[in-house]
Amino acid sequence: MKRCGLSDLRTIAGVCVFVGVCVTIAALCLTLGQPPKKEPGPEISTGGDMLDYLMSIGQIKAKDGLLVTWYHAANSKTQMQEALNSGVMVLEADVNIQGLGTVNETNIPIMAHPPDIYSDNTLQEWLDSVMLSSKGIKLDFKSIEAVSPSLDILLKKSAEMKINRPVWINADILPGPNVNHELGVNATQFLNLIQKKFPDITISPGWVTLYLPPIISNRTYTREMMVKMYDLVKDLPQRITFPARAVLTRSAWPHFDWLLQQSDRFSLTLWQGSSDPLTLDDLLFIRDNSDPEKIYYDIYEPLLSEFKQIALNSNRKKLFYSGGSLRLYFHPEDDDGILVKWFDAEGDMSALRSLLQSDFGMLTFQVDVQSVNSTLTPVAVFAESPATLPLEDCLKLVAAAANPWGVYLKPKDQVSLNETLHLLNRLNRDKMLYIPVWISMELSYGSFSTPGYIKGEDFINSVNDIFPAVTIAPRWPPENLNNGYTDQIIQDMLKLFEGVWQDVSFQLQAVPLGKAWLSTVHLLKASPMYTLTVEHTKDQGAFMDGYHGLMAIRTHTANGVYFKLPQEYRSSLMTSIYST
Ligand SMILES: *[C@@H]1O[C@H](CO)[C@@H](O)[C@H](O)[C@H]1NC(C)=O
Ligand SMILES: *[C@@H]1O[C@H](CO)[C@@H](O)[C@H](O)[C@H]1NC(C)=O
Ligand SMILES: *[C@@H]1O[C@H](CO)[C@@H](O)[C@H](O)[C@H]1NC(C)=O
Ligand SMILES: *[C@@H]1O[C@H](CO)[C@@H](O)[C@H](O)[C@H]1NC(C)=O
Ligand SMILES: *[C@@H]1O[C@H](CO)[C@@H](O)[C@H](O)[C@H]1NC(C)=O
Repeated sequence: MKRCGLSDLRTIAGVCVFVGVCVTIAALCLTLGQPPKKEPGPEISTGGDMLDYLMSIGQIKAKDGLLVTWYHAANSKTQMQEALNSGVMVLEADVNIQGLGTVNETNIPIMAHPPDIYSDNTLQEWLDSVMLSSKGIKLDFKSIEAVSPSLDILLKKSAEMKINRPVWINADILPGPNVNHELGVNATQFLNLIQKKFPDITISPGWVTLYLPPIISNRTYTREMMVKMYDLVKDLPQRITFPARAVLTRSAWPHFDWLLQQSDRFSLTLWQGSSDPLTLDDLLFIRDNSDPEKIYYDIYEPLLSEFKQIALNSNRKKLFYSGGSLRLYFHPEDDDGILVKWFDAEGDMSALRSLLQSDFGMLTFQVDVQSVNSTLTPVAVFAESPATLPLEDCLKLVAAAANPWGVYLKPKDQVSLNETLHLLNRLNRDKMLYIPVWISMELSYGSFSTPGYIKGEDFINSVNDIFPAVTIAPRWPPENLNNGYTDQIIQDMLKLFEGVWQDVSFQLQAVPLGKAWLSTVHLLKASPMYTLTVEHTKDQGAFMDGYHGLMAIRTHTANGVYFKLPQEYRSSLMTSIYST
């Protein structure tokens, strides 16, 4: 990585703008000089993005999966015709093999949902009719036998004419919640057939699921299910939309969140079993914790309309997942972490209240424990005052604030950490923790093993055991930073966090960054779940003491880096970045 100053960057940006303007003018001249094309409307490949397609034909006005409408089981000729005559945007239909499993089995794909093995509509006839419309296509497969001949038909069709719309191919290929056996469509065969015969599609690979009421089972999607699915699709070239049973999605949100963050190609399609007790809150929670273009909602009425009306009202207080990313909470339209403001909690409730009313951002609490009636209680302690406040009261106040706030908690030791996590777990269970929560400690590990600090493994185990739904914000003990962020201490930190599935934001100090920062780039590269936070406090030095470190990181990237600075330092940094 070459270091370059801001002025270099500005020059480069200036050149880019200039070149961009020239290209645009040239393109305009060319376009104006040409006769208008015969066929308007862009060509869309069958592997193209569904939202781009629906935008291009004017069906939706924003790239938002919530705006897409679905017709289920458009299988028989009557159902298909009804769907084609309706305003629905995407037709979902089931493909089976005629006479499957009987002496009369053919090789002809027909439109029928198992157990039906006969239909008045073949896939060929269905495609011929649907091609006359502009509707999107989603084909569901319940048996592997139907996949190969169906892909042949698609391939033949695409050779005859431009299919000119996205095609989704769905099959449940892995065991999911409450399912113990290998049911569904053979995963390797399904994915291999697509690559071999007709790869230019969106794949919709799902889990076979069974919904059971909570009094019988609370089982939901697990991390292992996500990892297994990810391993199957991570190297494929296609767009992937994972079907997720909506009633079980909220309870597994941390794992879906992980899966979605692994690739820009991934999205979710929520579906509902006809008797699933899906709630409005479940849907709002998912909506509030995802990018609009990442989730499709294939949900029954009247719930869907009620949900749409509420979800599209932006003044609502969000049901935020406490382990979710700050980008989604504070600056969904812009990946620049400098937009987040950071504050230190002041020493009494009324100061806290007035801050919460007048601003927004992330609020830091130093946490210790006190023994009250011989039980340990986490309390917020303050640098300039002997006063303490019960952490529970502080968190409730923050969570209830009208402005968007999150908390950054710094437990003093292992005991404070455990008590803090127990408190968070309780608040979360009582549905009072819809704000981002970061937990930060200095960790002792490998080449930065240092007496007096919690062992890295113990820290991670406590979080995972007691309350995992947080962003983890590890620091190196300051004793180890005399030579800056060396490759050795970076590599060891990465090793410690192998296997951790949460969002992690590595906490860096500006002064040592100024001595050596280049290796910290590896942290950002190692996982899409990783961000950096550069801190510079007045205790650590004047603004200029941290200038080199702050600017080095800032010049390297504006994405996925937060700047935890006092307000004056933040203003100075903004001035340095944006003024000429
Ligand atoms: C197979 O087809 C024959 C002739 O159409 C029919 O009589 C018979 O019932 C079918 N068998 C099955 C198992 O569907
Ligand atoms: C799926 O098919 C492959 C190849 O035909 C086979 O090796 C594998 O055992 C099958 N998997 C399951 C779960 O049946
Ligand atoms: C599922 O969770 C609910 C609520 O926490 C609890 O009341 C119920 O006993 C649990 N069911 C099972 C089977 O564990
Ligand atoms: C501690 O115990 C006393 C006497 O039982 C009670 O009045 C008080 O409310 C308790 N304090 C807390 C914080 O539970
Ligand atoms: C903190 O919690 C972890 C995980 O449950 C446990 O292993 C550890 O012993 C606890 N430590 C203390 C000091 O309570």
